Amino acid sequence: MTQQLTQQPTDALVRTGEGLVSARCFSDPRVYDMERERLFTRSWLFVAHESEIPQPGDFVTRTMGEDPVLVTRGPDGVVRVLLNVCRHRARMLCSVDGGNASHFMCPYHGWTYSNTGELTGVPYFESYQGRLVKGEWGLQEAPHVDSYRGLIFACWDAAAPSLGDYLGSMKWTMDLIFGRADAFEVTGPPQRWVVDCNWKLGSGNFGGNLHHVPVTHGFTTALGLKATRSRRQSYYVTTRFGHIVSVGCHLDMPHPKPYLGLPRDLMPEYQRNLSPEQFSFMERIQTMAGTVFPNLSYLNTSSHRPSEWGAPPEKEVSFVTLRQWQPLGHDKMEMWSWGLVEKNASEEWKRDSKTCYQRTFGAAGVFEQDDPENWSEITRGLRGAMANRLWLHYGMGQTPSPAPDWPGPPPAYNTDRAMSEINERVFYQRWHEMLYGQPT
Ligand code: FES
Ligand SMILES: [Fe+2]
Repeated sequence: MTQQLTQQPTDALVRTGEGLVSARCFSDPRVYDMERERLFTRSWLFVAHESEIPQPGDFVTRTMGEDPVLVTRGPDGVVRVLLNVCRHRARMLCSVDGGNASHFMCPYHGWTYSNTGELTGVPYFESYQGRLVKGEWGLQEAPHVDSYRGLIFACWDAAAPSLGDYLGSMKWTMDLIFGRADAFEVTGPPQRWVVDCNWKLGSGNFGGNLHHVPVTHGFTTALGLKATRSRRQSYYVTTRFGHIVSVGCHLDMPHPKPYLGLPRDLMPEYQRNLSPEQFSFMERIQTMAGTVFPNLSYLNTSSHRPSEWGAPPEKEVSFVTLRQWQPLGHDKMEMWSWGLVEKNASEEWKRDSKTCYQRTFGAAGVFEQDDPENWSEITRGLRGAMANRLWLHYGMGQTPSPAPDWPGPPPAYNTDRAMSEINERVFYQRWHEMLYGQPT
């Protein structure tokens, strides 16, 4: 393609109609500056799971884009998201991962704030001679904080839609995981590690890139770790604000029905919480992976207990992981990974589920080793001037077939006959709108 070597104008980094995305989306620090200014300040961003801060006074430190924040539960039980930056001289206020505190004292000069953000103490206060009004110098607070099915999100943009509107039809598929149980809980603090890659590579990969699996993760077949490989039917689902989901289902239903390796004793709970359509669809699901735009992904699949590798599929155990791709510049990100389990499951099942998560998608997980290597090699390959000029191909399945049997809100597409890159195109279309204010 001759167009692959042409210089591109700065305002056309995505050409959705042609299925093209500029390499500069992943490699240009000026593009990253725009993301920091226009995307991470205006999008709803995941900040914590409710089970991480259950009690008044509990807090965790997180980032929204590169802005450090405190996620606190105040004495009133309300969750607030506060910029973790002292209003005096901008020192980061709190450096620990989390805990329980009524107040935070800045280690530099001692300005002290309550966990609801008010400035409550200032050393040498009288020396300001009445010119410092404490009520005007509280911590910067995110105007929007809300949660959906235990997932807490925040947004800096006062004009943003509500979280419910923002998630929109994504809620139907999120409910298949986060809404099926009465409650989920984290299996522990998030695992974190730094990867030398652009953050969007994780978002796109987890929201709709099934065709990397046989190649990137081909070791499972090569080593015979999957004893039976049932035929699959997959759906790609897209939504208004760029959230994307892929769902892999059993086509030939194994017996007994797999239900994703979920605990049988929780079936009445799932049935009570889900609609009849959702519950009957759940029996076929093999894997669900989605991305809530821009940088939260989730995955629910199943794996064998360590002692049962190669056993039949019905022996597998379900696990859920949340994964957040936290930017650290255009060529580096911090990976945050949580394991989640159904709160009402037995302790034994929770332990097995956590083990399955850690062995596959934890920091040392066998699948987790594969993906970041691709992404960091992409980022390494794009350091040079010539590679920066490339258009990258996202054009597979430009007009995918609508899925007539998808039981949730449309649009959804079948990928069993023809694979498609529709989900990533929708993600980058939304990304372009956020940066440039116009569709591509
Ligand atoms: S920078 Fe925080 S008290 Fe001075
Ligand atoms: Fe992967």
